[in-house]
Amino acid sequence: MKVIEIEGGRKLSGSIRVSGSKNATLALIPAAILTDEEATICNIPEITDTDALCDILADLNVKVNRSTESMVINPKDMKNVVIAEEHSNKLRASYYFMGALLGRYNKAEMYFPGGCSIGARPIDQHLKGFEALGAKITNEGNKYILEAKELKGANIYLDVVSVGATINIILAAVRAKGITTIENAAKEPEIVCVSTFLNNMGAKITGAGTSTIKIEGVDHLHKCFYEVVPDRIEAATYIVIGALCGDNLKVDNVIPEHIDAMLSKLEEVGVETEVGVDYVTVLNTNKELKGTKIKTAVYPGFVTDMQQPFTVLLTQVNGKSTVTETIFENRFKHVQYLNALGANITVENQTATIIGPTKLKGTEVAATDLRAGAAMVAAGLIAEGKTTITNAEHILRGYEQIVEKLTSVGAKIKILEV
Ligand code: UD1
Repeated sequence: MKVIEIEGGRKLSGSIRVSGSKNATLALIPAAILTDEEATICNIPEITDTDALCDILADLNVKVNRSTESMVINPKDMKNVVIAEEHSNKLRASYYFMGALLGRYNKAEMYFPGGCSIGARPIDQHLKGFEALGAKITNEGNKYILEAKELKGANIYLDVVSVGATINIILAAVRAKGITTIENAAKEPEIVCVSTFLNNMGAKITGAGTSTIKIEGVDHLHKCFYEVVPDRIEAATYIVIGALCGDNLKVDNVIPEHIDAMLSKLEEVGVETEVGVDYVTVLNTNKELKGTKIKTAVYPGFVTDMQQPFTVLLTQVNGKSTVTETIFENRFKHVQYLNALGANITVENQTATIIGPTKLKGTEVAATDLRAGAAMVAAGLIAEGKTTITNAEHILRGYEQIVEKLTSVGAKIKILEV
């Protein structure tokens, strides 16, 4: 097991550079198999989720040439075999191979995906989309078998706004015959990324970033080059850390409009920032911070992934704050550990109530999932003494070089294998 140890209480100054978007990358890699020509993707984050997708590419006999932060994917000699369960269950995004394999071969066989345990996370909307395109779906235990004689464009209304379903349906529809329309589509920046990537390969997708996406099927996709956008969640996490213990900490390589909702909440709380074209500096104003109410929502609302790290900031503001989670049923596992560190948080139904400010004191806590882990890191940085975070593998799934990045701005943090 990997463990992160932090000696809290240090002021962080200088700048942290944000890596490429995890969630975009995890959709781009499966999307690359829709052609049999080479796709070159740059600014790929070096995280274990990316490694896991590379294992799946290896299962499929796809050649990958990986160098620092870039990847050339060549699916010319690809074989449509069943992806090993121990590979697909390492991460949620493995399910994008369902859409991509179906789109390329009219057939996909895969086990139910893994990922953070933050709720039931059904995939009914993905399957509904595949069926509308003409796929027949059968189950063999935990395995899905998707097969179509041919995929034909269809009108698909998503009952739930889902990032994963929107992307998966795009992947399956991009080479289908005719036009597919996705109504009530998710609008997250990752959807724009995947659509731009596919359009660079010759796809005809319009409306990405709005709730209606049209995909005109094409016969052939060709080679392309693409640079992944910065990770909005990683950026937001470091900005919150800057608000907690920064001394004018600068977070570089940011697309500020991707984190508008979070920046507004910071302002409401009383944290001042300087927002540049591609950076955010958290200003050291020593202003008194006050409580706020947060409700997670689909983009462009307050992103669910950030409610956990943001809660740490709310333990340090004056008065009462609430955080209501509306996307996932089980995203409050960090609360017991924040309380162990000294926070005063209660959870009822889907709302956490935080009374602040409370002094945090280091102890042993666990990273129960990726963003809960990020919350533990943020808390450890301000806690007095030593915080030990077990199950730190979860954190490395999504934060590239988190220990190195925080060390470079003055944190006392290390990672150990125990
Ligand atoms: C993606 C992100 C995750 C982020 C989430 C919401 C990746 C790898 N993960 O997850 O970090 O927190 O978007 O922004 O990109 N749902 C259904 N049926 C479905 C699909 C989803 O009911 O078929 C529900 C889910 O259970 C959840 C909600 O819809 O309650 C949103 O899920 P979705 O947007 O699909 O999240 P993911 O794509 O899994």
